[in-house]
Amino acid sequence: MPLEIRRFNWHRDRQVVLEFQYEIYEANFPGFQVDKVFLDDYERQLRTATRQAAERLWVLDNRGAVCGFIWAALITSMVDRCVGYIKNLYVAPEWRRQGYAKKLLATAEQWFRRKGAQKAALDASVCNEQALALYERCGYQVSRLRLEKSITDTAGR
Ligand SMILES: CC(C)(COP(=O)(O)OP(=O)(O)OC[C@H]1O[C@@H](n2cnc3c(N)ncnc32)[C@H](O)[C@@H]1OP(=O)(O)O)[C@@H](O)C(=O)NCCC(=O)NCCS
Repeated sequence: MPLEIRRFNWHRDRQVVLEFQYEIYEANFPGFQVDKVFLDDYERQLRTATRQAAERLWVLDNRGAVCGFIWAALITSMVDRCVGYIKNLYVAPEWRRQGYAKKLLATAEQWFRRKGAQKAALDASVCNEQALALYERCGYQVSRLRLEKSITDTAGR
């Protein structure tokens, strides 16, 4: 039976969404370690999001067991009054490559459209190849790049 996409429920779902953060952050920021301080802060942000009209979360539900989620928000950019921004996305390993991330993205995009956004945006790490493949497949294109250089090398290349 296919998984259901339903609205996030703070009391029922937050613990498992917090557990997903280990893989999400460690995949996107190699070397970063999710700890209690990080999770406490994330939990506060989740709580705030549930009370804001400009933020919405959905979970992937397998008969009561949460196996993925997406967090979407409406933001203002320097050039757009209303942009749909994907803050976080996760599908548990055993449910990957079955189109669920695509469905979660489509759910968020539909909500963005209803709220008047003409554009959806997100940030991704270059090292996260599976996420980049997904976003490209779903029509997202690179619009800005963050460039980094190690400056510990005194040769100064
Ligand atoms: C990235 C992630 C959300 C993808 O979830 P998913 O449910 O497996 O993605 P989908 O099945 O909807 O994939 C849709 C398309 O994206 C591309 N894609 C997804 N995962 C891929 C992978 N590992 N390798 C290559 N392409 C991939 C494919 O084109 C795929 O279509 P196909 O299976 O018909 O070829 C999931 O791997 C995940 O949760 N990763 C850890 C957390 C994370 O990195 N989140 C993103 C934060 S920026």
